[in-house]
Amino acid sequence: MTYLDDLKKRRSRYDLTSELPMSEEALVDLVEVVTLEVPDAFNMQSQRVVVLTGERHRRFWQVVDEAFEGQVSADKLAGFSGAAATLLFATDTATVEDLQSQFALYTDKFPGWARESVGMLQYAVWTALATEGVGANIQHYNPVIDKAVHEEFGVPAEWELVSQMVVGGIGSEPGEKELKPISERVVTR
Ligand SMILES: Cc1cc2nc3c(=O)[nH]c(=O)nc-3n(C[C@H](O)[C@H](O)[C@H](O)COP(=O)(O)O)c2cc1C
Repeated sequence: MTYLDDLKKRRSRYDLTSELPMSEEALVDLVEVVTLEVPDAFNMQSQRVVVLTGERHRRFWQVVDEAFEGQVSADKLAGFSGAAATLLFATDTATVEDLQSQFALYTDKFPGWARESVGMLQYAVWTALATEGVGANIQHYNPVIDKAVHEEFGVPAEWELVSQMVVGGIGSEPGEKELKPISERVVTR
């Protein structure tokens, strides 16, 4: 199996089960290893992850429901809650501001770079999970949930929440996705 084969295993999987095909400790290890390996502008290491499993994972989706005052469909929430874990991805704004003050020439660049690096982290975790037979999808309920999540889960105020990755066993596979011709997206000159 090559790295390219591994990339092909990742999909947005919404039919997730509560049976994680790895232990919770192995999930945390995987997230830690990927977080250590993913690159980052100036090696600033601004990416953050909160791993929620079991009761904390289910409570998270209740918090989303409460924050949206019932506006997110119950079926959708039940699907997320019925998975095994949720990973909250965030950016540590204190780290970004520190780098901005150190390197004045790039002040306006750091927030964008921080966003790219937390994006790379999400992708790398998502793919690594897929290679282990673990399904995942990615959600964005920010900023509506932010205040409640910081309070309820003790997330530091300077960790700006970016996305929520729902993780679980794979119930069923998604259909094929429509792809634009690759020649429109990658060119040689
Ligand atoms: C930056 C980004 C934001 C996304 N936001 C959401 C989201 O909020 N909700 C969702 O269900 N899927 C979200 N997705 C998943 C995309 O819809 C999905 O990756 C895309 O349709 C391709 O399908 P695939 O993941 O199965 O390859 C997001 C993906 C990316 C990369």
